[in-house]
Amino acid sequence: MQLKGKTALVTGATSGIGQVTAIMLAGEGANVVVCGRREDRLQQTMASIASLGSSVLPIQMDVTREAECDAAVAKAVDTFGSIDILVNNAGVMLLGPIHEADTEDWRRMVDTNVMGVLYCTHAALRYMMPAKSGHIVNISSTAGRTVRAGAGIYNLTKWGVNAFSEALRQEVHAHNIRVTIVEPGIVATELRDHITHQQAKSAIEATANSITQLTSEDVARAILYATTQPSHVNVNEILIRPTEQAM
Ligand SMILES: NC(=O)c1ccc[n+]([C@@H]2O[C@H](COP(=O)([O-])OP(=O)(O)OC[C@H]3O[C@@H](n4cnc5c(N)ncnc54)[C@H](OP(=O)(O)O)[C@@H]3O)[C@@H](O)[C@H]2O)c1
Repeated sequence: MQLKGKTALVTGATSGIGQVTAIMLAGEGANVVVCGRREDRLQQTMASIASLGSSVLPIQMDVTREAECDAAVAKAVDTFGSIDILVNNAGVMLLGPIHEADTEDWRRMVDTNVMGVLYCTHAALRYMMPAKSGHIVNISSTAGRTVRAGAGIYNLTKWGVNAFSEALRQEVHAHNIRVTIVEPGIVATELRDHITHQQAKSAIEATANSITQLTSEDVARAILYATTQPSHVNVNEILIRPTEQAM
């Protein structure tokens, strides 16, 4: 119960990495605020956490809307008294070549993967800075370190998350706030289901299915490792690939 008394807010806790992370953080005793747009999935996550005997607060919200990010963080603090851990996990990966792109996909990726991280971080810092305590975990990707044709805008967003995270770390470390970037390789989740470019979708599915992919549990354990270190230890970056993934 290493997180007893702490409050963690996890965005994108309705499926995949975020859902398992929320459950694992609760398993360590944290009060967990689970966020996402799909109400039925929020209820599912909430039921799994409640069955562990941990406190859970579901909040239906869209990270692309600043007011909803502000309100979610404020509600977390109202309910549990603090926000100690923010896991910026919500994301979309809408792969496809630049010249054939539906530019709405670009807006969704930038708004979710970049602006969502910025809004939630900004909201959480309002409480973490005066408290002189906190931990912000940003879920990036190997796509934040390795560029691939067909992933340009996803690369752009995750590159942005990495750059932002390091600037943030330099700004807040003196306030006893930790910043961790987690960069998974291919994980078996719903992420690829939303790709609108059919060739790009088939290509990434074929690559993913040719190897033993990471599970959400594999990545959640990395997040748990970073968040359960003593407060003087700041795990800045965790890069985690399936053994069979080359790039
Ligand atoms: N799977 C991989 O191979 C992989 C690899 C590296 C990095 N990642 C990163 O890991 C993170 C989690 O992805 P995943 O693989 O677990 O995929 P996932 O199962 O599709 O989960 C994505 C989560 O993000 C939420 N979300 C999306 N748009 C949102 C919005 N506008 N507002 C609020 N929540 C939103 C979804 O919830 P709702 O739809 O209910 O809102 C869902 O809970 C992402 O940042 C992704 O880029 C994944």
